[in-house]
Amino acid sequence: MPDILLTRTEGHVGVCTLNRPDVLNALSVELMDQLVAALEGFDNNPDIHVMVIAGSEKVFAAGADIADMAKASVVEMMERNNLARWLRIKAVRKPIIAAVSGYALGGGCELAMHCDMIIASESAKFGQPEINIGVMPGAGGTQRLTRAIGKFKAMEVILNGRFLSAQEAFDAGLVTRVVAKEQFFSEAMRLAHQIAQRPPIALKLAKEAILKADEMSLSEGLEYERKLFYSLFATEDQKEGMEAFLQKRKAEFKGK
Ligand code: CAA
Repeated sequence: MPDILLTRTEGHVGVCTLNRPDVLNALSVELMDQLVAALEGFDNNPDIHVMVIAGSEKVFAAGADIADMAKASVVEMMERNNLARWLRIKAVRKPIIAAVSGYALGGGCELAMHCDMIIASESAKFGQPEINIGVMPGAGGTQRLTRAIGKFKAMEVILNGRFLSAQEAFDAGLVTRVVAKEQFFSEAMRLAHQIAQRPPIALKLAKEAILKADEMSLSEGLEYERKLFYSLFATEDQKEGMEAFLQKRKAEFKGK
């Protein structure tokens, strides 16, 4: 059996590729377990600064594995404790880029929305079609999609199971950039390598502060940001970054 998750590193970038092509990369419990473990491994590896999650050109992921759930009872679903897996992805401190081509549906769309940037191929289709199988999003779709694209668009996508094209998703604010189909992965990697050159501690704290914007009031968020900003003056990278600027040379960041 081929591996359902392929992982590799390229410079300071860790790559996870979903690999269940027969079922359009449906996110089985086993695949989610492997993905969470891989992301946490990269998060704890000081050589890795940025991560990329990709599917294939045809599909990012068509959602949770319906065959896994079709006959499950409430108790079985609760015992699986999928929320814990999603919370572990949310807890990853380093930036994650989703490289999305083809379908990103249900849990697949929710996985892309757990990432920090989404590079979409022009063929990408985003949706939360759980309504068509008698349920509703269960891994953050009602909350993250609404925050990303607003209540009135989210209502149509979730209540009517409509897919958003890559361009619509971009126009609505769900996607970072739309690129040609053959470039979706290389563009995600190019962005990942660029960001990986930045000071690693500042990257983590900036990500943390941005994510707080969804959870805090503006005044609480501003206070939180200011504390993180001050804390960066304890890093060698702050001294190096500012000295390099003044000396008109390229900074060499060490993540210290
Ligand atoms: N789970 C399990 N198997 C899936 C799957 C899924 N989410 N999506 C597709 N597959 C399987 C199909 O059963 C099919 O298998 P067989 O070849 O053995 O029949 C294979 O993948 C290919 O799929 P299709 O023949 O359906 O391909 P298509 O090109 O005609 O349609 C599609 C593509 C529109 C994405 C369609 O497959 C589809 O609607 N998939 C389900 C999408 C969905 O409802 N996702 C939400 C899941 S629930 C969820 O994610 C809950 C949550 O919030 C966590």
